[in-house]
Amino acid sequence: KKRVLTGINTTGTLHIGNYVGAIRPAIRDSRNPDTESFFFMADLHALIKCQDPARIARSRLQIAATWLAAGLDPERVVFYRQSDIPEIPTLNWLLTCSTGKGQMNRAHAYKAAVDQAVAAGRDPDADVSMGLFCYPILMAADILMFNADEVPVGHDQLQHLEMARDVATRFNFLYATPEKPFFSMPVATGGSEIEVLPGLDGRKMSKSYNNVIPLFEGGRKALDEAISRIVTDSRLPGEPKDPDSTSLTVIYDAFATKEESEAFHAELRAGLGWGEAKKRLADKIDAEIGPMRARYEELMARPEEIEKILQEGARKARAIATPFLAELMQAVGLKSFT
Ligand code: TYM
Repeated sequence: KKRVLTGINTTGTLHIGNYVGAIRPAIRDSRNPDTESFFFMADLHALIKCQDPARIARSRLQIAATWLAAGLDPERVVFYRQSDIPEIPTLNWLLTCSTGKGQMNRAHAYKAAVDQAVAAGRDPDADVSMGLFCYPILMAADILMFNADEVPVGHDQLQHLEMARDVATRFNFLYATPEKPFFSMPVATGGSEIEVLPGLDGRKMSKSYNNVIPLFEGGRKALDEAISRIVTDSRLPGEPKDPDSTSLTVIYDAFATKEESEAFHAELRAGLGWGEAKKRLADKIDAEIGPMRARYEELMARPEEIEKILQEGARKARAIATPFLAELMQAVGLKSFT
């Protein structure tokens, strides 16, 4: 069976970019009988970006509820919190010791953090934590712990996948025989046709740009409010519009069939007003996520149920991770004396 694995940082609530780029394709794929899926809350990763314990605690619950509300079936999927699998940080250390520092120097996320610190007149060595610097190794450990074949992620994670392959190759080279490598090479699968969902202003939809459409938080009202802020030109109703001039159409396309998209674009070219177009977009998104939002709210009121599901997920994950880690520990020389 093909193994599919993906994770989401628990630093806040999710936006429709996370849904379109990772959650929706991952859940769709998990229904395929030929796949074995592993979906998790990257809550150890979250500590890198967020030192607010209350926010971390709430976000893990919100993101767990989001996955379940979006249709994840815990009977089919191994669904867990990263921090419930102690084998992952141990593997992280084995991989840290076999990975060159130079490899991590190249990471976009690290380089961006350095640039940001310099631009703000701060010392990057004080600003950038070791957690951030080593972020891609922990992510490699997440993936390699379960020898995932495919990792459905948005385009922004492609470099991390490339790094996971480099980390795996190096470890295999040091400790395995070419005939029997420990790790197979994971590949990123876009899942969706859209590589990166743009936000309200056309840049990548991202919390850090403050340009997101929230997935569930704030309900329909917050959805409408965000959509009303999508940047368009100032053409009036009746004037022909260029459908490629705004992220509104790209977002619409992510929720529509090809035929529906073509019809929508044609109406814009024929003069549909931006106000009406925004209303159509809100209705389109809500038709898909509205029922999920109702389930999300129900789930958020029953944290003990989610806890139970995740404990069971951790048990299933560890049944795989514990023996595999033991094998790796042996390989590096950490084995019993007898
Ligand atoms: P994170 O938490 O930033 O984002 C979660 C997922 O959402 C995708 N995404 C998008 N996709 C399309 N358009 C967008 N505008 C957009 N914004 C976010 C991300 O690509 C991601 O798939 N490092 C990961 C978390 C992680 C992980 C892993 C993923 C930790 N360990 C192991 C896969 C496998 C991250 O920061 O995702």
